[in-house]
Amino acid sequence: PNAEQSSVTKRNLIVVSNRLPLSVKRTEDGSYTSSMSSGGLVTSLSGLTKTTEFRWFGWPGMSPQEPAEQEKIRQSLGAHNAIPVFLDEELANRHYNGFSNQILWPTLHYQSGVAFDDGPWEAYKKVNEIFADYIADAAQEEDLVWVHDYHLMLLPRLLRERMAKKKRQACIGFSLHTPFPASEAMRTLPVAKELLQGLLSSTLVGFHTEDYRLNFVESCQYLLNARAQDSSILYKDRLVKTGRFTVGIDPEKFNDTLRKGEVQARIKQLNERYKEIKVILGVDRLDYIKGLTQKLHGFEQFLTDNPRWQGKVVLVQVAVPSREDVKEYQELETQISCLVGKINGKFSQPEYTPIVYLHRSIPFTELTALYSIADMCLLTSSRDGMNLVAFEYIACQEQRHGVLALSEFAGASVFMAEGTVAFHPANIKEMSQAINKGLTMSRDERTERYKKLERFVNRNTR
Ligand code: ADP
Ligand code: G6P
Repeated sequence: PNAEQSSVTKRNLIVVSNRLPLSVKRTEDGSYTSSMSSGGLVTSLSGLTKTTEFRWFGWPGMSPQEPAEQEKIRQSLGAHNAIPVFLDEELANRHYNGFSNQILWPTLHYQSGVAFDDGPWEAYKKVNEIFADYIADAAQEEDLVWVHDYHLMLLPRLLRERMAKKKRQACIGFSLHTPFPASEAMRTLPVAKELLQGLLSSTLVGFHTEDYRLNFVESCQYLLNARAQDSSILYKDRLVKTGRFTVGIDPEKFNDTLRKGEVQARIKQLNERYKEIKVILGVDRLDYIKGLTQKLHGFEQFLTDNPRWQGKVVLVQVAVPSREDVKEYQELETQISCLVGKINGKFSQPEYTPIVYLHRSIPFTELTALYSIADMCLLTSSRDGMNLVAFEYIACQEQRHGVLALSEFAGASVFMAEGTVAFHPANIKEMSQAINKGLTMSRDERTERYKKLERFVNRNTR
C-alpha cells in the first residue's frame, strides 16, 4: 500500500445474523460440539471467509445461563471468529419460532392466514435490542456493520440510536435473503411500518433481485410516505441506498470435494446402483416454501402420464429437517411422509421404489456425490429468495451436463432462465411435462443449456 492508503483507518467488518455458521450442541460429557449450519445465508457468506476477515455475531442455537458454560461456547466459537449472542431460551423461542418463523417468514413468502400476536412481536423487539447492545459495544468508529435477514429487521434503527449516543458514526448494510413481497402483502402485517423504519436506518439495503428491491421501495412509499430518488429512498431527511446483489456459491469447494477418493468411490457405487435408472434429485430444507407436496404430486403425475418411465426413474429427495418446533413445519412433515408412502405404494415393484426419501441432514461428501450422479435436479419452490441448491447442482455437473428443472418462483430463475427447464410449481401438468422434457433431452441440448448455467455459476461466485 502507498503512504496515502496506509494513513487511512482500517475499517473492520462485523457480520450479524441470527444463525451463526456453526450451530452448537452439548454432548453427553458436558462439552460442546459445533457443526456447520445449513441454509442459503450461511452458504453464501461462507465463501467470503477466503478473502475477507470479519467477526460474525449470532445466536449459537442454545444459551446456557451459567457464565462458565457460556465461556466454553465463546471459546469454541472464537477460533472461527464467531461470537455468540446469548439469549434466554424462552425469549429466543418466541423470537425465532414465534415471530420470525411463524409470522414474518410466511408473510415475506406470500402465505395467507398468518395470525399476528403481540407476545412474539415483543420478543422480536427485545432480541433485536439485545443484538444492538452487543454490536454497539463491539463496533468502533468507521467499522462496517453488515446485518443479515428477516430476524433482525429492527437492528439498523436500534444500533444507529445506540451509536449516536456514543457519538459514533454508523455504517450499516442490511441484506435480505428472502423475497420482499408486494406492498399489499407486506401491509397485512400490523407492524410493517416499524419493520420498514428499522431497515431505513441502514446506509444501504440489499436484495437478491430487482423485483424484491422495487417491492421494498414501493412499500416505503405507500406505508411511510417515503420518497424514491433514483435507487435511494428519502425518509426523515436521510437518504438510504438500495441495491440488488446476487449471492453465489464457492464452486471450488464442490470441485475439490468431487476430486476426493472417497467421493469418487461413492459416485461409482451410485452409478452402478442406478445403471439402468435415471435419477431426479431434490435437496431442500423441509419448508412449505420449497413446494415439496407439489413436487411429489408432479412426479406422481409424470409417472401416470408416462407409464413407460415406471421402473426407470427415481426421485431422490433430501429433506433437511428445519424449524421443527413450529406447528406448520411439523404438519408438513407428516403430510410429506404420507404422500411419499402413498406414491411409493402405488408405483413400487418388488425391485423398484420410485421415491427415495431422506428426511435428515446428510454429510457434505454424500450431498456432492448425489449432485454429481443426478440426471436432473428438480426444484419446485412456491417462493424462494434465491435457491443456492440450483447453483450447487450445476457446479457438480461438469461431466454429465444434467438438466436443471426450476420453478419460475425461485429468485435464481431470474438469472438462470435461459438454461433451465422452467415451470409454474402449482401447475402439476406443466411440471410433469417439464420432467418429461428434461429426461428426454438430447445430449447436445443439455450441453448447450449447461454451458450457459455453468458460466453464470462460475462468474457469480460470492
Ligand atoms: P435455504 O436458504 O432456503 O435453505 P438454499 O437452497 O438457498 O435454501 O440453501 C440451502 C443450503 O443448505 C445449500 O447451500 C445446501 O447445500 C445446504 N445444505 C443442504 N443440506 C445440508 C446439510 N445436510 N448440511 C449442511 N448444509 C446443507
Ligand atoms: C433461509 C434464511 C436464513 C436461515 C436459513 C436456515 O436461508 O434466509 O436466514 O438461516 O433459511 O433456516 P434456520 O431457521 O435453520 O436458520
